[in-house]
Amino acid sequence: MRKNIVAGNWKMNKTLQEGVALATELKTILADAQPNCEVIIGTPFIHLATVVEVVKGSVIKVSAENCADKESGAYTGEVSAAMIKSTGAEYCIIGHSERRTYYHETYDILKEKVRLALANDLKPIFCIGEVKEEREANKQNAVVKAQLEGSVFNLSAEDFGKIVLAYEPVWAIGTGLTATPEQAQEMHAYIRSLIAEKYGKKVAENCSILYGGSCNSSNAKGLFANPDIDGGLIGGASLKANDFKAIIDAF
Ligand code: 13P
Repeated sequence: MRKNIVAGNWKMNKTLQEGVALATELKTILADAQPNCEVIIGTPFIHLATVVEVVKGSVIKVSAENCADKESGAYTGEVSAAMIKSTGAEYCIIGHSERRTYYHETYDILKEKVRLALANDLKPIFCIGEVKEEREANKQNAVVKAQLEGSVFNLSAEDFGKIVLAYEPVWAIGTGLTATPEQAQEMHAYIRSLIAEKYGKKVAENCSILYGGSCNSSNAKGLFANPDIDGGLIGGASLKANDFKAIIDAF
């Protein structure tokens, strides 16, 4: 059966020292807790190796926020999936809307990133979601379908089984405008139906689909109560240990 997951995405926040302090605080407040979900923190590249050491012995797992679309070589400033794996991180966020928008990551680039993450034994957390204009034109289903077909529906059923999906409506990210539980559940059920069509019911039932976009301690419970919402990908509220813990406690 699929896992419930609460994953943080720190984005471009926290110096190394601040990140270590946050990870340490989270480890401390989770020490006696037995979360009913997997807990992941997604950190900038430079934090990975240190944060992996900090959270050792706790329930917390670590994710990168991106990886290169090339294996290795003369790509100044890039960080490969193999390098991420060598830090001890287990997950890698791929296809976040901020990467698609600001760094022009196309379906083909993302397809390559997913392939390289899997080849290096990292579990992709693959993000999809429509922008405001697309939702207003009622095109959200078509957009999400194209994003899946463009970058992950090429995978074998076995490889698809290793990825986590995150539905993040772009209009809800960092805006305080959360999707309603009904809107999110409707989309998650649609995504699961697409997976079932492509890979069969069993693969679809086993896929964790997270919601992201202004998810916080006040709305997490209402979102996570839905049958197809298997947790959250949390931006702003993952930057404070107590706020993040409150979302974990929603399960
Ligand atoms: P916020 O929770 O800050 O809206 O960000 C969501 C997000 O983009 C997580 O990847």
